[in-house]
Amino acid sequence: MEKYIVCGGNRLQGEVEISGAKNAAVAIIPATILAQDRCVIENVPNISDVTILFNILKNIGAKVKYLSRNTVEIDTSYIAEPIVPYESSRHLRASYYFLGAFLGRFSEAHVSPPGGCNFGVRPIDQHIKGFEALGAQVSTDYGFIHAQAEELFGSHIYLDVVSVGATVNIMLAAVKAKGLTVLENAAKEPHIVDLANFLNSMGADIRGAGTDVIKIHGVDMLRGTTYSIIPDQIEAGTYMTIAAAAGGDVLIKNVIPKHLESITDKLIQAGVEITEFDDSIRVCRTGPLKKVNVKTLPHPGFPTDMQPQMTTLLSIAQGTSIVTEGVWDNRFKYVDELRRLGAQIQVDGKVAVVEGVPQLTAAPVKATDLRAGAAMLQAALCANGTSEIEDIAYIERGYEDIVQKLSSLGAEIKKVVTPDVTLPQAQ
Ligand code: EPZ
Repeated sequence: MEKYIVCGGNRLQGEVEISGAKNAAVAIIPATILAQDRCVIENVPNISDVTILFNILKNIGAKVKYLSRNTVEIDTSYIAEPIVPYESSRHLRASYYFLGAFLGRFSEAHVSPPGGCNFGVRPIDQHIKGFEALGAQVSTDYGFIHAQAEELFGSHIYLDVVSVGATVNIMLAAVKAKGLTVLENAAKEPHIVDLANFLNSMGADIRGAGTDVIKIHGVDMLRGTTYSIIPDQIEAGTYMTIAAAAGGDVLIKNVIPKHLESITDKLIQAGVEITEFDDSIRVCRTGPLKKVNVKTLPHPGFPTDMQPQMTTLLSIAQGTSIVTEGVWDNRFKYVDELRRLGAQIQVDGKVAVVEGVPQLTAAPVKATDLRAGAAMLQAALCANGTSEIEDIAYIERGYEDIVQKLSSLGAEIKKVVTPDVTLPQAQ
């Protein structure tokens, strides 16, 4: 079993470089299927979610070759069959983007329903609604979602809920459909814009990404391209809350400050000093943290993927903060772990009442999902004493070189491998 051992209390100082955005990469990598050609993708984050997607691509016949640590050549000229079985898809949510990409290229897709972080029901009805509006027939049997069409035709689609995944999947399926697709109530996250820019660089005609109406004029064919993925908004936000929690002074490099505005705003309200530069942001805290109320919302609201890190920060702020989860039904499961470190938080459904304590104290904890894992790391870094964090595979799904990056800022953290101990079942 792998775990992190973290000795808390060091003030973090220095510079950290942000990697390419996970949630853009996991959409762009399946999207290369639409090129039927060779693409070179730069700024690809070195994380396990990306490795899983490359393995899926290789399994279906694509060629994937690293040109350098973060630059990858993907050739999707030859793909055997538009099929992703459960064994491959179960490890991550984004495997459902193969549905849209296969449908766009072959008018046919067979993908086993995806895995991913568990924070309540994760329906895909809006993806299916979009595929059907484009003319596909969608069914589920023997553990597969099947989507098939003679030909796809542009359509007018209104999403009932703002969904990142449905927006991505519909864009992928519609990009080569005949005629115009108008997608209303679309998600506006930076990775939606990045995917649209990537597809446009392959010859697609997509306008309006980043607003709630996206217009896609279908094109006959797409070509290979060279493209660089945007910096990761959530990785940057995580280093911002970590620096703030540890009372540090950190320059976070390779960021787009505009993508971080909702996080910056809350940190300033909490008493943190933020200085924005063209492509970096400095986070410094010298005084006490103050209470802040936060509600997560789709972009440009405060990101749900920063909710655990922000709640953890507020657990050491003066006063009582209210955190409301506005996207997922059940994203406070990590709070039980945080309480083990001394946090005082009451959860009622989608609302957490956080009573700040002066100091967290070390304890063994586990990552319950990717961002919750990052929050545990943040808590351990400012807790008094040495904590152990288990189930770190979650963290490594989405944070490149997190141990090295934190160590370079002065954190005391190491990854250790211990033998698995299986206790007898309680009778
Ligand atoms: C994406 O998940 C991200 N994952 C998540 O980040 C992120 O939390 C989420 O968007 C919200 O920002 C990836 O990009 C790979 P949604 P996704 O569809 O696309 C409901 C991380 O930590 N909904 O925008 O699965 C759904 O239940 C991960 O990096 C429907 O009702 O999220 C939820 O309440 C975790 N029907 C809301 O919409 C649907 O068909 C938003 O979900 C689809 C979604």
